[in-house]
Order: sequence, then C-alpha cells, then structure tokens
Amino acid sequence: MCGIVAYSGSRNALPVLLGGLKKLEYRGYDSSGIALNDNGQITIRKRQGKVSELISMLDSDSTLEQATCGIAHTRWATHGPPTTENAHPHAGGKGDLALVHNGIIENHRSLREKLTAAGYVFCSETDTEVLAHLVDLHHKGKLIDAVISALREVEGTFGIAAMSRHEPGVLVVARRGSPIVLGLGREETIIASDASAIIKHTRQAIYLDDNDIALIQGNDVEIQALDAGPVSRPTSQIDWSSNAAKKGGYEHYMLKEIFEQPEAIRNTLRGRLDRNRGNALLSGLNLSPRELSELHRVLIVGCGTSMNAGLVGEYAIEDFAGVLAEVEQAAEFRYRNPIVKPSDLVVAISQSGETADTLAAVREAIDKGALVSGLVNTVGSTIARETGRGVYLHAGPEISVASTKAFTCQVSVLLMMALKFARSRRMSRDAGCRFVEEIEAIPSLVEQVLEQNDNIAKVAERYVEQSSAFFIGRGYLYPVALEGALKLKEISYIHAEGYHAAELKHGPIALLDENVPVIALCNEGPGKDKTLGNVAECQARKSRVLGIVTQGDQEAIAALDDHIVVPASPPHTSVIPSTVALQLLSYHIARLKGCSIGQPRNLAKSVTVE
Ligand code: AGP
Repeated sequence: MCGIVAYSGSRNALPVLLGGLKKLEYRGYDSSGIALNDNGQITIRKRQGKVSELISMLDSDSTLEQATCGIAHTRWATHGPPTTENAHPHAGGKGDLALVHNGIIENHRSLREKLTAAGYVFCSETDTEVLAHLVDLHHKGKLIDAVISALREVEGTFGIAAMSRHEPGVLVVARRGSPIVLGLGREETIIASDASAIIKHTRQAIYLDDNDIALIQGNDVEIQALDAGPVSRPTSQIDWSSNAAKKGGYEHYMLKEIFEQPEAIRNTLRGRLDRNRGNALLSGLNLSPRELSELHRVLIVGCGTSMNAGLVGEYAIEDFAGVLAEVEQAAEFRYRNPIVKPSDLVVAISQSGETADTLAAVREAIDKGALVSGLVNTVGSTIARETGRGVYLHAGPEISVASTKAFTCQVSVLLMMALKFARSRRMSRDAGCRFVEEIEAIPSLVEQVLEQNDNIAKVAERYVEQSSAFFIGRGYLYPVALEGALKLKEISYIHAEGYHAAELKHGPIALLDENVPVIALCNEGPGKDKTLGNVAECQARKSRVLGIVTQGDQEAIAALDDHIVVPASPPHTSVIPSTVALQLLSYHIARLKGCSIGQPRNLAKSVTVE
C-alpha cells in the first residue's frame, strides 16, 4: 500500500523524509521518491526499487541538504507498472509544483483528456500525474485554492501532500478515503499516511477526516473542510508500541490485513459497479457482452486460498449466469492434458501473480487456444502480463503469508464477474440492480464481523488445545470450510480439514471424538437445516461444535456448543463475513498458542517453484 511522508519545519527535511519512508516500508511498495522545496526551487528524485536504493542515489547529491520543506512517497503500483516514471512525486505543469497521492482517481481518464487538450504533456501512466497537472491548471495564486478547485473535480479516493515553488515552506494536504495524520512538533509538522513515520518525532497527532484539507507551514496548521470553512480536529496521543508501529499499530501483518478488508474490498469494487444498469464494469476483461454471451465455459485455476476463492466463483457463475464453470488445481491442469476449447475462458487467480503452478496453467491454456484472463493483485506481475487481460484486485499489498484480504477481494471480483456474465445473458436489469446492492453491502458486513473481534478471541480460548479439527459447510459455504481449515492449519499448525457437511458420514466421522472439534457453517440459507443435522451427528460422537450463525438465529445457537454471529446476507455474499470470522478465529488460536504468525514454518508468501 502506498505511503506518504511530508515535512515543514526548521530542520533539514531530507533525513526526516527518508527516515519516514523506511518506517512505511512494511506497507509494501515497489518504488519511492522525494521532492524538496529549497526556497523556491522544487527538486524531485525518485526511482523504482527499494528506499535504500533511493538513499544511495541521494547520498551523492549534497545540494539537497538545505531544504526544510518536502514530500515523499512509497508507491504500490495500481495504475501503470512499477517504473521510475510512474513513481511519485509527480510534477504539475512545468515543475512549479509537486504532489504525492495515495488512493484511486476513478475519473482520471476523462481528466487526462481534458488536460491533454489544454496542452499538458504526460510522462507517466498514473492517475496521480493527472491530479498534479489539474492542480497546476487551477493554480492562479495560492496553492490551497488550486488544490481545492482540483479536488472538486476528482471522483475517487485520495490522501495527498502538495507544495509549490512559489510558497516555500508551505504544504497542502488533504484526504478522502486514504488516511493522513499530522504529527505536531515544536517548530515543525510531520505528515504521514500512518503514525509509524511520525512517532520518532512526536506522539501528538491530528487525524484528518474525509474531505479535510490542511495548510501547513512549520508548526502552523489550519484545517478546513473542502466544501466549507475552517474546522477543528482533536489532537490525540499516539500510544503505539515500537513493534506495533512497524505494522500500522497491529502486532501482526495478518491482523492488520484482516482489519483492512472493508477498505480493501471498497477499493476492489470502486468504479466497477453500475447501479443504474445493474451491471459490473470489468473493462480489463476486454470481452464485449457479445463475446461474453458466447462463452461456453469458465475454467478457474489457482492454488491454495486462490483456488478456494475460485470455488465460490464457480458456484456464483453457474448460479447466476448459467454458464458452465469449473475450478481446477493449477498444479494438475498442465499435466492431465485437459480438454480446453477456444470458447473457454480460463481465469487464473493469484494474489502474487507469480505462483509457478498457476503460471504454468496459464501457459497451457494459452497453448490450447483458450481465452485467458488474470485475477491478480500485484500489478505488472508475470501472470498479469502473460494473460494480457484481467481484473486487478486493488487490495493493496498482502504481506502476511496467510492470505486474508486477497481471498475476500478475489471473491468480490468473482461475484462481479458472475454479474457481468449473467447480464450478458438472462439476468434482468432489476435483478442486476439487486445484485449490485448485495455486492456493495459486503464491506459493511465485514465491519460488523470485525466488531466481534474480542468475542471471537474469547471463543478461540476453548479451541487452543486441540490437535485436530474439521470445518464443514454446504453450498457457497463449502469453500468457506476449506478456507477456514487452511487458515487454521497454516498459522496454528493444528491439523484441520475442510469437508462438505454431507461428506463426514462417508468416512471422516470415524475420527470424531471429544478431542476433535467441528466448526460448522450454519448460516441462514438453503443448507442450514441439513447442516444442523450434521452438527447433531458430530455431537453424538462427543465432538464440540462451534457454529457460524446468522444474527438472531436462536434455533442454531441453541443447537451449538459455541457460536460466532455474522450479519444476515444472501448465501453468495455470506461467504465473505463468514470467512472473516474464521480468519479471526484462526488468528486468535495461533496467537494464544504463541505461534509464529508472521513467519509460519515451511511456508513462503509466493510459491514460485513447482
Ligand atoms: C494462503 O493463505 C496461502 N498463503 C497459499 O495457499 C496461497 O494462497 C497460494 O500459495 C496461492 O498464492 P497466490 O494467490 O499468490 O497465487
């Protein structure tokens, strides 16, 4: 995820900026840069790669050591691959101003056309450069006025810091959907996307609200609302431990990324749902409605969590679009000489975009003449490049080895794909509009589960000692059982198996006794009553059963030994809040066991070997 640092004060800005970037490295990035305002001279230095490489490049440049005002950025590529040209800061106009930005500008294409027509020349593929030139276009005197005018034209999210050579020492910062915190010093202000970059200098902080814009010079801070007058925001004390500060206030990347899911899913959905036409706008698929209507089959390949997400996609695409859909382990695909037709769309799901088995499956599908699409989180990754078409997750970098937000964002994209395929066939506009509303409701469903964190931690205490567990579910909740078992296995080392609830009696039930708990997906929906029947079968063998239940379902709660409540939602979207509940359950069990959640034994974040 991108990171911002900015400084205005009496000290040299450069070491503060670079030190701040180092503190933000944990967020994941692929390029970095700084801009300094040295008494009316704006200098920008940026490059692809690590902050250490930027520092080496600057070491030899002593001219940069005088400036007392500057901005800096670590970029995680969304629009345009990770290159030096696409790195931030970006210059506005002919270099009179510089700007860094976190977030996604949805109307960047139309703004780019407008600016090009106005004579602006672009040197990057980013939406951020569009904003920099837009501010320049509006710059008639004061920087803050130009920024306000520009942001009024922007649709999407931003956290920005900007400066102009005409106003030495002055910074303008603003936020909508992407955090900005102001660190208040004695003669200085340090601005950052999170407190990790600030607490070395001060623990007095102001957190901007959405649509706040601040004018900063030294320790002088004036905050106003974008569309109204001055506002005052409370000053708070940052109480992060130094270890937590390395991960945005969380003890582990996994917990940080679990709690990022509402924002990550919003970023995944942003600009991709059309409420009026009841459809999904997945332009990256590069397939017309006519081509979609002629697809014979969707074949989904992936590994691990990505394959589990693919199984949800299979259910949703067949359920809503009536298109044949199948999921296959990527590792099997290329070795079994699969039947693949030109009318097949092969969707390769991969967070990293570098998984060897999935990449090999992509190449096999290409060789067999199928249409191939990626569903990838990492921009510019090998799978993204070799599929040539697809949908980026926009989930932000996933650092934790245990995949969490990637799964929920992958499922969100697959639901949008099911909608798009369905609307190219028999789904009506009204049904499409209902589906759009259901998908847009997902982030708030996740927020409601995250509010249960403390309760889930208490439930976890009763499952720490187990050496084995079963996860069971039906329908859309069967892939949730698989994913829940995978999460528990990989971070707590408890042997766990995900099973279709009906399958237990075909053998695995022989393993049940008082030492083997069962986690059952008992959400309201078509399979609930049968699953409660399976729960009773497990309890008859003395297994303790923890159920995921729908808010208010007293019948299910009464039938279970323990329960975790999730908000009511249709079966196809209940996958996501239910999975988040199991992510937290696994996290707390592993935490209580003292496991190495950050570095689970034997595991790698991206399996780039067969
Ligand atoms: C998930 O928690 C695991 N880390 C693993 O199963 C992962 O999902 C799998 O290796 C696929 O990775 P990818 O999505 O980057 O291709």
